[in-house]
Amino acid sequence: MKVDVLLGLQWGDEGKGKIVDVLAPKYDVIARFQGGPNAGHTIEFEGRKFILRTIPSGIFYGDKINIIGNGAIVDPRILLMEIKGLQKEGFQVFNNLKISRKTHLILPTHRMLDAVYEAAKGKNKIGSTLKGIGPTYTDKVARLGIRIGDAIQPNFKEKYEKIKAAHLRIVGSYDFDPDSFILDGLSFDEYEREWMASLESLKGAESIDSEYYINNLLQQGKSILAEGAQGSLLDIDFGSYPFVTSSNTTIAGVCSGLGVAPSRIGRVFGIVKAYCTRVGSGPFPTELFDETGKKLQIQGNEFGSVTGRVRRCGWLDIPALKYAVMINGVTDIILTKADVMNNFKEIRICTQYVKNGKIFDYIPFEVNDIETELQSMEGWNCDLEGLKFDQLPINFANYIHTIEKLSGVKVSMISAGPDRNQIIWR
Ligand code: GDP
Ligand code: IMO
Ligand code: MG
Repeated sequence: MKVDVLLGLQWGDEGKGKIVDVLAPKYDVIARFQGGPNAGHTIEFEGRKFILRTIPSGIFYGDKINIIGNGAIVDPRILLMEIKGLQKEGFQVFNNLKISRKTHLILPTHRMLDAVYEAAKGKNKIGSTLKGIGPTYTDKVARLGIRIGDAIQPNFKEKYEKIKAAHLRIVGSYDFDPDSFILDGLSFDEYEREWMASLESLKGAESIDSEYYINNLLQQGKSILAEGAQGSLLDIDFGSYPFVTSSNTTIAGVCSGLGVAPSRIGRVFGIVKAYCTRVGSGPFPTELFDETGKKLQIQGNEFGSVTGRVRRCGWLDIPALKYAVMINGVTDIILTKADVMNNFKEIRICTQYVKNGKIFDYIPFEVNDIETELQSMEGWNCDLEGLKFDQLPINFANYIHTIEKLSGVKVSMISAGPDRNQIIWR
């Protein structure tokens, strides 16, 4: 069997959580391969709404195995809160959640470092979620990190204290007072105590050698869906560096983050919002600063699912989409939030960039001072609720065909609302 992959093709928040939840019944296993609680994946069904941070979005089906892979990173306190929240709602998370022993831990001081580095950047700040993502991946690559599997070793405390002391030395070299540092409403010491207690409680979740586990399942003919977090344009290598996250959010992250060979990759579902959003700093060529941008924001409810931060909004960006399609080998586009533009008279798509009078249909190294060439299309001006693919209004069908023609990829599913059932299958 193959591993199918679901990735965001823009700057995150494309609706990945919802689509994983819709596709999950077709799979035996759902696995996260990168990122950490900087993610917020929303799932809605039966009038209930859940936001997942680290747990794969297959958790609502009792018969699915959900794996947090070695390439992801875990904050025990945030993960335990997530587990408890689901348990309160009647989901027995521990029965079908497994965590790779090689998954790195986000330590309390990683979060402190994130805050220190971000503050030091001043007006060039990245707009990080401040969940310790950058510093944790930094320590992983520097071979200083601590993994879940290390937490049960007798020398864990010693290792922890050593790395914490090293972090505090770095913090000491900045103009930053660790004693007045508040983390999620707690003093550092309180936070650290809760963090340690959570790590202890997480022993209730099964730790596995996920690369063996996953490859064995594939041998047995089980089907696996890899769930990406963030989006391709936030990739550490291919995103708008340095305004990116610290992991490979693109297809390569699946191989290194789960231990599966490239030849095992099957379909690659690219999740694309019908327009663009971005939260945090960094270039955004099609960003709208006018009433239309505001309308997308309000009608699309474009506020961070966890932080409530305002998401910047703009038109669909084809050069950026083609780039994400190329890097990931996307086989299917799944278009989300089309319904947000149901009452738009005119819709635009950026077909190419113009920089210094030169036309680009690719992303130049320096993504600044870019102007966009926009194709105008007539809106569909009606509700999409309950429609089948062959009943789509002509202007919406035109929008879909234009995306397919310009990106070279078939749109195989459309999401027209946040609920699990609001899906138009092709
Ligand atoms: P993710 O991080 O990619 O999983 O996306 P988020 O959950 O952060 O943000 C997507 C938001 O849009 C959530 O509030 C979803 O409930 C919502 N959503 C998902 N698909 C659709 C859709 O097709 N239409 C509308 N109106 N909302 C959607
Ligand atoms: P999901 O999985 C949208 C953005 C942050 C910031 C940059 C770096 O819900 O789509 P980090 O915390 O990683 O240091 O932040 O990346 N970012 C996201 N934006 N959706 C996400 O996840 C994001 N995760 C990180 O806003 O600009
Ligand atoms: Mg999100």
